[in-house]
Amino acid sequence: MMWTWTDCLCVNLLLLLQRAGSEKFEVLGPTRAIVAVAGDEVILPCYIKPNISAEDMRVDWFRFNLPDTQSNTQVHLYQDGRDKYHDQIHSYRGRTSLFKEELKKGNTSLKLIRVQGTNDGHYTCLVQSKTHYDDATIQVYITAIGSKPEVSIEGQKEGGMALLCVSKGWFPEPELEWLDSEGVTLSAGPLETDRDYEGFYIVKLKTTVKETDINRFTCRVRHSQLHEVMETGFHISSELILVHEEAWRIAFALIVSGHCGHISFHYLALEWFAQ
Ligand SMILES: *[C@@H]1O[C@H](CO)[C@@H](O)[C@H](O)[C@H]1NC(C)=O
Ligand SMILES: *[C@@H]1O[C@H](CO)[C@@H](O)[C@H](O)[C@H]1NC(C)=O
Repeated sequence: MMWTWTDCLCVNLLLLLQRAGSEKFEVLGPTRAIVAVAGDEVILPCYIKPNISAEDMRVDWFRFNLPDTQSNTQVHLYQDGRDKYHDQIHSYRGRTSLFKEELKKGNTSLKLIRVQGTNDGHYTCLVQSKTHYDDATIQVYITAIGSKPEVSIEGQKEGGMALLCVSKGWFPEPELEWLDSEGVTLSAGPLETDRDYEGFYIVKLKTTVKETDINRFTCRVRHSQLHEVMETGFHISSELILVHEEAWRIAFALIVSGHCGHISFHYLALEWFAQ
């Protein structure tokens, strides 16, 4: 087939028309998951290729794969040249922004500040022009190093002493264990897991210890992924076990007589210990 001068002109015109607004583009994100540290800020990368301006496009960032119970998935919306917060998930309020100067270069990355545990998961970046759209999905992992374990006495139980260990503020969930003075893992109750309002894990583990020669116990919290280990030691002298038995009886009598709530009873037992 012969190309005529008019064919050539038509092709050029077509290309020009495409440049003028109906151009196809691809939306690209990172190939790997993004790891964000709780409390810090993070950039979720997303851009269009070729690098035409996205200033007049709609840029929609939303959560992907959220539990069915959550109907609202919008994290950030930019439309008609401005940010729209009307349908934004409440917990993201005041924490998201686009880079306005970068939008001109087709960079639709999202900045998220004060990262929370609940921000873990998949995000989709959807970019739409009048004639075309594409999206990219990004996985975000949140990590948070929690607190040193706190140990306390729960009370006398089955001829031993019930001890409680608590560690807060982790993401993802850590492991918790009780050890004796030789470093041997003690049998313990099931790990109780809770999440605070920002989505960070609170873990609790109870054990009942018998009187041993040394009466030294350790609670250890460990997060293998984050290479983090923290321990809190705990010493109980033999006299205290005896004293405690006495305190327990007094507290119990108070509860039975109806003058003392559970909380104050607990304090009473601990105060006795402190003496
Ligand atoms: C788009 O990318 C090209 C080549 O990488 C670069 O020369 C040009 O300055 C970029 N355009 C914008 C608006 O950033
Ligand atoms: C987009 O903008 C952000 C913030 O300035 C920057 O960190 C990122 O490298 C940019 N991405 C591209 C593809 O230019």
